Amino acid sequence: MKVCVVTGGRRGIGKAVVDRFIKEGYYVASCSKNQKAFESYNLLLMKCDVSNIKDVKNFYLKTIKKFKRVDVLVNNAGVAFYKKLNETKIKEIDNMIDVNLKGVIYTTKLFLGKLIESKGTLVNISSVAGLKSYENFSVYCASKYGVVGFSDSLRKELDNVKVYCVCPGPVDTDMWSGFGWIRFPGITKPVTIANKVLDCVNNKYKELIIK
Ligand SMILES: NC(=O)c1ccc[n+]([C@@H]2O[C@H](COP(=O)([O-])OP(=O)(O)OC[C@H]3O[C@@H](n4cnc5c(N)ncnc54)[C@H](OP(=O)(O)O)[C@@H]3O)[C@@H](O)[C@H]2O)c1
Repeated sequence: MKVCVVTGGRRGIGKAVVDRFIKEGYYVASCSKNQKAFESYNLLLMKCDVSNIKDVKNFYLKTIKKFKRVDVLVNNAGVAFYKKLNETKIKEIDNMIDVNLKGVIYTTKLFLGKLIESKGTLVNISSVAGLKSYENFSVYCASKYGVVGFSDSLRKELDNVKVYCVCPGPVDTDMWSGFGWIRFPGITKPVTIANKVLDCVNNKYKELIIK
């Protein structure tokens, strides 16, 4: 029995990761901010705001109660906006850093012991905006560069856990269309990213950053 934990699994890339790992025979626990609770023998879906440490603890405890072990953690939950810093409200800044960066750190911290026990795999979803800066994307870039740095440091710290950071370009999800940007022909589909996450677990890559 192998267990995969996914944050932000209700839609987009996270949903594709949930579906891909279920198809692969994994038991999956996933949470999202607006997730309706659901449970079956191989799936646990829960409401949890990853920026709220109490929620993340509750997600962790329910996952361990049900599945006992964790082999893969995919930190995927994220938010994005595209605007000038001058026009950005403080609460928007706080939310983005809290979800995109602190949410990744909180979830990793809680599940890390189980990943160490299983000699498992941690996959953090950053972005191409975590490697290269884009205009009017400063807070998002700050959060995603943070995820790359966090992952790189952990990779050096952990002997028995494989650490990867997947950095997609544009992906055909609500996040992309939420900017009012066109889903151009050939835009990457969420399942392509889900396959890359699975490739990380299956030792296809040696490097930290997967583009
Ligand atoms: N789409 C792109 O072009 C693209 C490119 C590079 C990187 N990424 C990254 O890929 C990841 C997934 O993005 P996506 O495109 O799939 O986005 P999406 O379609 O907007 O889905 C985001 C998911 O994150 C969840 N979420 C948001 N805030 C949360 C919170 N506070 N606590 C728990 N869950 C929360 C949402 O929950 P609900 O469904 O419950 O609302 C949703 O399931 C993000 O980290 C994003 O930055 C996306």
